[in-house]
Amino acid sequence: MTRDSRIADTLGVAADLPAWLQPPAVLSGRKRLALLGGTGSIGQSTLRVLRHDQVRPFETLGVGEACGAGRRFELYGISGHGNLGALAAAVQEFRPQVVVGSDREVARGWNACCPGFVGEFYEGPEGLVRLASDPAVDVVVAGIVGRAGLESTLAAIECGKVVGLANKETLVMAGHLATDLAERTGARLLPVDSEHNAIFQCLLGAGRKQVRRVVLTASGGPFRTWTVAEQASATPQQALAHPTWKMGAKISIDSATMMNKALELIEAKWLFDLEVEQLQVVVHPESIVHSLVEFVDGSVLAQLSPPDMALPIQQVLDFPERVESPAKKMDFLANWSLNFHSPDLDRFPALLLGLEVARRGGSCGVVLNAANEVAVQAFLDGGIGFTQIVPICRRVLDSHPFEAYPDLRSLLDLDRWARQETTQCISKP
Ligand SMILES: NC(=O)c1ccc[n+]([C@@H]2O[C@H](COP(=O)([O-])OP(=O)(O)OC[C@H]3O[C@@H](n4cnc5c(N)ncnc54)[C@H](OP(=O)(O)O)[C@@H]3O)[C@@H](O)[C@H]2O)c1
Repeated sequence: MTRDSRIADTLGVAADLPAWLQPPAVLSGRKRLALLGGTGSIGQSTLRVLRHDQVRPFETLGVGEACGAGRRFELYGISGHGNLGALAAAVQEFRPQVVVGSDREVARGWNACCPGFVGEFYEGPEGLVRLASDPAVDVVVAGIVGRAGLESTLAAIECGKVVGLANKETLVMAGHLATDLAERTGARLLPVDSEHNAIFQCLLGAGRKQVRRVVLTASGGPFRTWTVAEQASATPQQALAHPTWKMGAKISIDSATMMNKALELIEAKWLFDLEVEQLQVVVHPESIVHSLVEFVDGSVLAQLSPPDMALPIQQVLDFPERVESPAKKMDFLANWSLNFHSPDLDRFPALLLGLEVARRGGSCGVVLNAANEVAVQAFLDGGIGFTQIVPICRRVLDSHPFEAYPDLRSLLDLDRWARQETTQCISKP
């Protein structure tokens, strides 16, 4: 029996999970990674996991000494957009063969930023697609934020890669296309989002057909206890101050409006092929229980760990094995408690939008995502108030020309349309 078949066999991986959640075909050997969005929060957590995989501990290396390839992973390629400094630091440390500077303007400064780099440098969005489709790459970590991650994630799926999916917007915008494509190409879509990773872990070795409901936990964000009137005067700085997670700006604002949970409902529907009626959101301020699955017999499985993205990233990269991880560990002797309560839909109406979009499907996801991205940016730029974000999304969603099964071209047209429409809503309230 080979090591590969032994791993797959002993785990008894859930046979009735969708094809894109099955263990990768090739399990042994060092995996070559393409890290898209390497300069962001997910990117930096992924580098932490790779650092932990180094043969020699990072702390023992001399200044400027390259880590090189690790035991299980090699960073083959990495992308950054506006933050060339963070990109150059990662390149000096991990020596990838390919670097992508996706912002063409910023990319012009690459040579000055990293003069010793001898590998290949690609520019622009095409560079992302090229890296994601590179035959040398085994695993693509999709860590770009928002719509900007769509094409490269779809390219990785088209090439049958193992995709560590953080970019939830791909499934929100194009869940039907991404899952159909993965089914055809044999690509794996393994969830990095902590809630979906928790659900994935709970479903392994169980059975999706025996699932009664899936409960996504939500921290409630920085405004969990704020009234609508208080939220109306919230500043970007207050909205960015997430109580339990340290994340990029867009997802932090989405957590404050709870649009993040709305997007996650849509993501869960596509990823696990569940009925929307099986999905529920519960507020859990401690962010220790990352989600729960209830089975038909009433038994509930949950995944617990301190809030640290290194854990779901590592679980995905090593799936179906479990290995020692740099993620923070639970201390059961610390005096803590776990609380759960129902979300207040009057104060967090984004959840209703999420349920509606998950139910209607079709073009609703791409329109909601585009409207939200534009409205969030407008809030960060001081153009609208915090409590205007969700009503603007509602207006744009309600006025869009619904399509039941848009192809990629129609999706991109709808995305452009929704961005223009949202900009108009903002300028003429
Ligand atoms: N952070 C978390 O804990 C977390 C948890 C679950 C899911 N996610 C999901 O993971 C994704 C990334 O989130 P994040 O928190 O890591 O965001 P982030 O910190 O803002 O990082 C975003 C990354 O995308 C790059 N980027 C930005 N605009 C781009 C563009 N137009 N084209 C190409 N690349 C672009 C950024 O490059 P520069 O920095 O170089 O500009 C950066 O590398 C999101 O979809 C989010 O919902 C994040």
